[in-house]
Amino acid sequence: MSLTTPAARRDLSFHLHPATNLRQVQAEGPLVITRGEGVYVYDDEGRRYLEGMAGLWCASLGFSERRLADAAYRQMCELPFYHSFAGKVPAVSTELAERLIQIAPEGMARVLFANSGSEANDTAIKLAWYINNAQGRPRKKKIIARQRAYHGVTVATASLTGLAFAHTDFDLPIDRILHTDCPHHYRGARPGESEETFAARLADSLEQLILREGPDTVAAFFAEPVMGAGGVIVPPATYFDRIQPILRKYDILFVADEVICGFGRTGSMFGSQTFNLQPDIITVAKALSAGYQPISANLVSSKVYEILLAQSDKLGIFGHGYTYSSHPVPAAVALETLKIYAERDIVAAVRRVGPRMQAGIRSYADHPLVGDARGIGLIGAVEVVRNKATKESFDPKAGVAAYLVRRAQHHGAILRNMPGDIVAFSPPLIISEAEIDEMLGCFGKALDDTWAMVRERGLA
Ligand SMILES: Cc1ncc(COP(=O)(O)O)c(C=O)c1O
Repeated sequence: MSLTTPAARRDLSFHLHPATNLRQVQAEGPLVITRGEGVYVYDDEGRRYLEGMAGLWCASLGFSERRLADAAYRQMCELPFYHSFAGKVPAVSTELAERLIQIAPEGMARVLFANSGSEANDTAIKLAWYINNAQGRPRKKKIIARQRAYHGVTVATASLTGLAFAHTDFDLPIDRILHTDCPHHYRGARPGESEETFAARLADSLEQLILREGPDTVAAFFAEPVMGAGGVIVPPATYFDRIQPILRKYDILFVADEVICGFGRTGSMFGSQTFNLQPDIITVAKALSAGYQPISANLVSSKVYEILLAQSDKLGIFGHGYTYSSHPVPAAVALETLKIYAERDIVAAVRRVGPRMQAGIRSYADHPLVGDARGIGLIGAVEVVRNKATKESFDPKAGVAAYLVRRAQHHGAILRNMPGDIVAFSPPLIISEAEIDEMLGCFGKALDDTWAMVRERGLA
């Protein structure tokens, strides 16, 4: 059956929508997307949208890369399923693991595959616990994440996520999870505080938290190089330089969640390179397969691997893994994706067009609704405020950024609003300068529509 009208979609949709206001989507019907081409997707009434979020920060090569479809088809014909339990492995997955270690930040030694970003981070939590048991430190189990972090929505990763919607009424967070400050200078800095002083204060605050809890109880620190779903928060330049020595001092594992930042988004192959991070574990997903297949991975350092090896000697098994860990079809698509990144020098592409997007986003900084305009590479955001001088926000119930995003969609660009009236940009990495201008043009019109709405309703 083809659901071609909004009425039919409303009446006949059986979809339970994640991360959605269920009442609203039931009343208004979903936006049904039927096909994609380049950076554009088309709805079931033929309307075209520039996908300014690459879907969910993932469709790095756009929506019509035939080579990825062909890679999946070839793999389906050759070996549609195999697994990596009990010492077996699909050939293509070994190739992918090798390629990942070649391009990974220095020090990564082994790759453990999973299916989603949440699973990869969930695995990293388990590894942190397991490693400390292996080292005879059964008390060293607490995990520190940051307020506004997004690390997923499984029981454990939703607990790491520092956003209320992931916890409320889900009986989360679980115990042993702590949250430290979010490195958002615009919101978190004291009056007149420089980025440098702010970063030093946050590092000190982290150290105080570790000391209060007891360093012998803290296992790991999780961080996205640039926070995505929490509002595209680019940390101050010296933030991680100050955080990392503290983690080393107290022997705390550093897990870099590169689920969004990995594979070029910030203008280096990994966010860890952009911010000079030396993590023990890196989690990747999304652009690993350009979003075309569900696949994620944990890259672990040789230090971590040596501990797992010794523990396997002791227990006789490394008792973790999923049926679809190392699934050959997503692995084949990911391998082809990495080939395309190399052939087209995707990092250079981001460095070439990124400045256009960053300048474009910042060109709206003077608009009466814009409190902050920020980003790096091909990720950015605009934070909408009621009062520029005081940074006062709108009442969340007014849904100002949600309105803005609806208007942007009306003008032909899909963007995403996040808690705090933040509108994010994270287009496919293949976007051209002309397409960036088009995306930001739609945003500009939507911003003006929103300003008109805000004044009409007396919201500002
Ligand atoms: C930084 C980060 N980590 C983890 C996840 C969770 O990934 P998934 O939705 O594939 O479980 C996301 C999803 O957006 C993410 O942005």
